[in-house]
Amino acid sequence: MDRLAILGGDPVRKEPYPAWPVFDERDVAAVAAVLTSGRWGGFPYPGPQTATFTRRFGELQGAEHVVAAANGTVTMEIACRAAGIGWGDEVIVPAFTFQATAAAPMAAGAIPVLVDIDPQTYCIAPQAVEAAITGRTRAIIPVHLGAQMADMDAIMEIAERHDLIVIEDCAHAHGSRWRGRGAGAFGHFGSFSLQSSKILTSGEGGVLICRDETLKARAISIMDCGRPHDAQGTLYTMGANYRMAELQAALANVGLERFPEQLQQRQEAAAYMDEALSELPGIRVLKRELRHTTRSFYRYIFAMDPAVYGFTHEVLCDALEKEGIPAELGYPPMHRYDLFQPRLSRLPVPSAFPEFFDYDHLHLPEAERAGQREAVWLDECIFRAGRQGVDDVVKAIQKVYDQRSLLVETGQTGR
Ligand SMILES: Cc1ncc(COP(=O)(O)O)c(C=O)c1O
Repeated sequence: MDRLAILGGDPVRKEPYPAWPVFDERDVAAVAAVLTSGRWGGFPYPGPQTATFTRRFGELQGAEHVVAAANGTVTMEIACRAAGIGWGDEVIVPAFTFQATAAAPMAAGAIPVLVDIDPQTYCIAPQAVEAAITGRTRAIIPVHLGAQMADMDAIMEIAERHDLIVIEDCAHAHGSRWRGRGAGAFGHFGSFSLQSSKILTSGEGGVLICRDETLKARAISIMDCGRPHDAQGTLYTMGANYRMAELQAALANVGLERFPEQLQQRQEAAAYMDEALSELPGIRVLKRELRHTTRSFYRYIFAMDPAVYGFTHEVLCDALEKEGIPAELGYPPMHRYDLFQPRLSRLPVPSAFPEFFDYDHLHLPEAERAGQREAVWLDECIFRAGRQGVDDVVKAIQKVYDQRSLLVETGQTGR
């Protein structure tokens, strides 16, 4: 048996996985055309590249009212503010997500209320949402995490019953569909990131799908320094500059040309991965939800069983990295996340609920299990490397499993 690479042996995969982002002469030409046009920025909104991009992105997700912005954090802040959410309002967010999902409503003045996830999907648990609703709750931000979608049937039913705004955080879900309907087209808003690691990228960038013309006009106004963008030209808001630049929109337009083929490629490889991983001991594949009709793959997340391996996901990820497999721990649970420091804000924490920002006493078992012990995030690039790309991952996990006792004995797990 080949010795583990982390113990000095040869790695399973010696060839790097395909780089991201990809580009070719089309991107160079698109950027050059914007440069020579002299219209580089996002003012006045929308420029020609931005107008084309929002129309085409709307076609991808099946949405009519689309706004392009600076990134996928401000899009959620804009959504909160366009919906009239502000000081002291509560917004329910899952505890297993990137910092931005909780920080964006805070930037609008709202208090994020962290709730637990469904262990089958690692997305927000509808029953936890229901249990967290108070008289101050104004919105829910479900996150479509990795390659999964939150249960949008259950979330929308709860939201409608309690008259709540829904902002879908689709930073990972470009191209995803639930019962044939695009991610971001269920809630009042759908927020996407085009940051450089995302599966559609312009370096930095964000997209906000709005449910109707009025929300869209408010959102554009907020992101365009408060200028009116409604049909009458009378709707001013308290705004700032959160516009996307034309240079970014040009890159996003070329990215959209490549997107369908990449989506297909990742889907095929990921279906093959589902099968292969299900055979491995101590590995749990997340739920393959049939209502999730088109899956896109930003990260493929699976769960490992620390009781079977004798160590947690950290050691498995380290060992896989050494085998040439891009595997990450993903996010810690939000209430244990170094990047998330709500106490440094000056938000009023309702005196009746000081525990909102006192996370020492907050226990969300599923988010903690996933974020601190079990979840392994595989990079999207694996799924652009054909079956061999997947076979190498499976071989590497099997190799770590076979030599797990050696890892324990040699003290490689002593964290
Ligand atoms: C789940 C999630 N939400 C929001 C964001 C914020 O997007 P951006 O980096 O474009 O601000 C990201 C990623 O960066 C993310 O992963």
